[in-house]
Amino acid sequence: MSTAAPLEVQSLTKRFAVGNALHRSHVHAVDDVSFELRPGKITALVGESGSGKSTVARLLARLYDPSAGAVLFEGSDVSRVRRRRGVLRYRSQVQMIFQDPFGSLNPTKTIRHHVERPLRIHHIVPSAQIERRVHELLRAVGLVPPEHIAAKYPHELSGGQRQRVAIARALAVEPKVVLADEPISMLDVSIRIGILNLMLRLKEERGIAFLYVTHDLASARYLADDILVMYAGQIVERGPIEQVLSSPLHPYTRLLLAAVPDPATKLHAQRIEMRNLLTRHSAARRRAAATGRPLPCHRPVDLTERTTMPTDTSSFPHDFVWGAATAAYQIEGAAREGGRGESVWDRFCATPGKVRNGDSGEIACDFYHRYRDDVALMRELGIGASRFSIAWPRVVPAGRGPVNEAGLDFYDRLVDELLAHEIEPFATLFHWDTPQALEDVGGWTSRATAEAFVEYAEAVAGRLGDRVRHWITHNEPWVHAWIGHAWGEHAPGRTSETDAVAAAHHLLLSHGWAVQAIRRAAPDAQVGIALNLSHAYPASDAPEDEAAAWQVDGEGNRWFLDPIFRGAYPSDLLERNEIVAAFVRDGDLEAVSAPLDFLGINNYFRFVVSAGADGPRMGRDSEAQHTDMGWEVYPDGLHRLLVRVARDYAPPAIYVTENGAAFGDVRVHDGRVHDPERTAYLESYIAAVSRAVADGAPVKGYFVWSLLDNFEWAYGYSKRFGIVYVDYPTLERVPKDSFYWYRDFIASRPRAPRPSPIATR
Ligand code: FCB
Repeated sequence: MSTAAPLEVQSLTKRFAVGNALHRSHVHAVDDVSFELRPGKITALVGESGSGKSTVARLLARLYDPSAGAVLFEGSDVSRVRRRRGVLRYRSQVQMIFQDPFGSLNPTKTIRHHVERPLRIHHIVPSAQIERRVHELLRAVGLVPPEHIAAKYPHELSGGQRQRVAIARALAVEPKVVLADEPISMLDVSIRIGILNLMLRLKEERGIAFLYVTHDLASARYLADDILVMYAGQIVERGPIEQVLSSPLHPYTRLLLAAVPDPATKLHAQRIEMRNLLTRHSAARRRAAATGRPLPCHRPVDLTERTTMPTDTSSFPHDFVWGAATAAYQIEGAAREGGRGESVWDRFCATPGKVRNGDSGEIACDFYHRYRDDVALMRELGIGASRFSIAWPRVVPAGRGPVNEAGLDFYDRLVDELLAHEIEPFATLFHWDTPQALEDVGGWTSRATAEAFVEYAEAVAGRLGDRVRHWITHNEPWVHAWIGHAWGEHAPGRTSETDAVAAAHHLLLSHGWAVQAIRRAAPDAQVGIALNLSHAYPASDAPEDEAAAWQVDGEGNRWFLDPIFRGAYPSDLLERNEIVAAFVRDGDLEAVSAPLDFLGINNYFRFVVSAGADGPRMGRDSEAQHTDMGWEVYPDGLHRLLVRVARDYAPPAIYVTENGAAFGDVRVHDGRVHDPERTAYLESYIAAVSRAVADGAPVKGYFVWSLLDNFEWAYGYSKRFGIVYVDYPTLERVPKDSFYWYRDFIASRPRAPRPSPIATR
């Protein structure tokens, strides 16, 4: 990336005529202003209204002609170019984002039209590629699924989403310079941070030179590298923003600062203000209604409902377990060390086009070598439990046959380290990393893999069962079976519905067998399974929508809950029953329904389902907040889910074994990572769990996903779920603000008593 300034402003002056023919005079809106914008840097232009800052932006955007001075773009003066082609060329490189995106988005045109227009005007891509490019752009600004957003009209989007459309439109032309004039001041405080983080990401990823025009010092400090302070048409102070704000020289800068004593705390203050507003609101205090029927209908909710902050978490018992979760392939790295064999994910990542950016877990977070430091971080966090997974190919590299003691040694050391820090290990035996050697002979579509899994489970429980009290056999068999075997988006990349049904059955079967194997090795062990479950809300009271929601519930939730807790597949899913019949043998369902000590629930979102011509259709509430995965933030969905599962299946205990959110986190100039959206997410979901406990669900613990940013499967490293930021080039760990929030939250609760040593064979 070149570091030369693409835009240089020299002695720019703009006078406006005032008065009438008899008494004409001029005011200097902008007077002798000079500065430059550098690639990959954000320069804040700060001043009160009337200071001239927006006029500067408009002059740069060529919306006004200057009275004097020059605007050099890549060395040539563009301020007086008149020819349409010349102006167009310049405008294709220098884009402007306004305060009110609505004002610049024609309400009668779809979002597709708005993003497509600059592509057509500037002939950026051939016509055939326009649609693909529009989708890419919408995705880049976090508007997903793009097909869905593209078809909407501006008024169907929230303010934050409209601003993202405006940014996508600006990016369409791959600009070198972006002039953002108060882009967040008309947005709700809760979504401002998302736009700021998006701008930070774009500057980093695309090397764009930004001019951020604002009167708001807090956001300027959050975002900018440099500051220009403007007063009465002139720049009165300039320099690196931290330096200028910590020791301001000009009296006007001091005055601005005096109005906001510590701009860094202002964003925080805004959040507190929002929280107070919300908790005062009656809807925020309202207790969720009891679920009188299996799947209560979705009703459009009050905006406050999904951002409800915890008002009362006293329902959590004193021994409630607070933890954080990870998984082997996502964090360990060291893929070729300690005798580890190849896994299906190694193979999948090495297959071109399967994983974003060609990423793999080869190095990941290097937890294999850094686990001691990471356990120290867990200790600082104050968690009582760590959920991690064991890599099957480390323990049995060929899937079956000799056990690799060196592989077990690693987990042995990890368990000891956790216990030495008073952190309970919750070990997951399978988090999707099947040894490739087994996949080569049929993988989970073959019953033999279930047998191999039990041998592996025995080896692990035999070695760790004297210290590990909590065991999880499988993680999210639905995801592994369907996304990996029917949709081909996860390893092993199969694309057959029959393979998915077979894999699911063999996963369940191996779960049942492993429960018994673990109990043999460690009679006092607590054994469970972690299912990904999401509450399915019918979009309306219409019987068709209710039936569609029931079907979605059946395919995702009941297909696993019923065999585990009732020893039978749900009979309403006729086609699947036909497929699975070929794989079920006598005694299988008794094995699958071996009594469990707990159910693990991983939850991230809910479903809103309506009946479509080709089967159930998933709705999307465009007013709702969505995470970087495009998943709706809807804490009440977790409350409903917990209450419903407790009522219908009566598990002896439930742990929320995963819950969390990906956002486009960035590290800012103070070295920290501010992620108020994640903190708000965790607060609201924990509050939902608390309501479920108060309503009688036997929830015993909660694990945030995830401790560390990590390899997010087909998304590679592009999605950050951690409460600890990982700087991948250096592997440095940076606890995010949400880490400190969780630490303080845990510290404010009574500490659980330590469990007594456990009995083994
Ligand atoms: C779950 C997985 C976990 C992580 C989160 C975001 O489905 O169990 O590994 O990818 O989603």
